[in-house]
Amino acid sequence: MSFSYPGKDEPALHRISLTIRRGEVVALVGENGSGKSTLAKVITGLYLPDEGQVCRDGVDIAKVDQRELHSEVAVVLQNPVEWPMTAENNVRIGRLERPDPDGSVLAAAAVDSGTDAVVADLPRGWDSVLSREFQNGCDLSGGQWQRISVARGLYRDAPLLVADEPTAAMDAPGRARRVPIPSLTAA
Ligand SMILES: Nc1ncnc2c1ncn2[C@@H]1O[C@H](COP(=O)(O)OP(=O)(O)OP(=O)(O)O)[C@@H](O)[C@H]1O
Ligand SMILES: [Mg+2]
Repeated sequence: MSFSYPGKDEPALHRISLTIRRGEVVALVGENGSGKSTLAKVITGLYLPDEGQVCRDGVDIAKVDQRELHSEVAVVLQNPVEWPMTAENNVRIGRLERPDPDGSVLAAAAVDSGTDAVVADLPRGWDSVLSREFQNGCDLSGGQWQRISVARGLYRDAPLLVADEPTAAMDAPGRARRVPIPSLTAA
């Protein structure tokens, strides 16, 4: 498939062909501007290709119900969305409807992403609001936000997880962490 951004002469993705199998971990490596982030968005159905198709289980995702499609993907973006809400809600927003009565799912996502250490340093722990615009709100560093964003992606527990340079702003211990991927460990 190919994809061009509106108003651009050169396509960002030109005749890409790729198969990803269930349970597989694939790393995309390339120069800045080569199209990795764009490909991540096309694979997950956030953008539709201009030419060709993206198929999931043999079905063109352009023909699948958009809500169902989005429910089955998790994307940890290169620049995570910093919601002006509590630390807890910044993770749970990955899947608000996920049952977690004893908080163990939240805790596991926090440990696996290193968010536990971020929350331990917050004045009100999980209840701290992550925005300076609020009274008693806190500011996080870029790497701390990335940890939250990885926790959000893990908490979402989707069959397809795309992580776009999720550790770029993290320190060495943050990067070295080995994240267990739920769908793989369950298989
Ligand atoms: N929103 C956009 N509108 C127009 N052009 C864009 C947009 N986002 C990316 N591009 C262009 O598409 C091409 C691919 O960009 P993309 O962000 O996918 O690259 P990348 O491989 O992720 O780069 P990096 O390593 O810097 O993250 C680049 O030429 C870029 O300028
Ligand atoms: Mg990119």
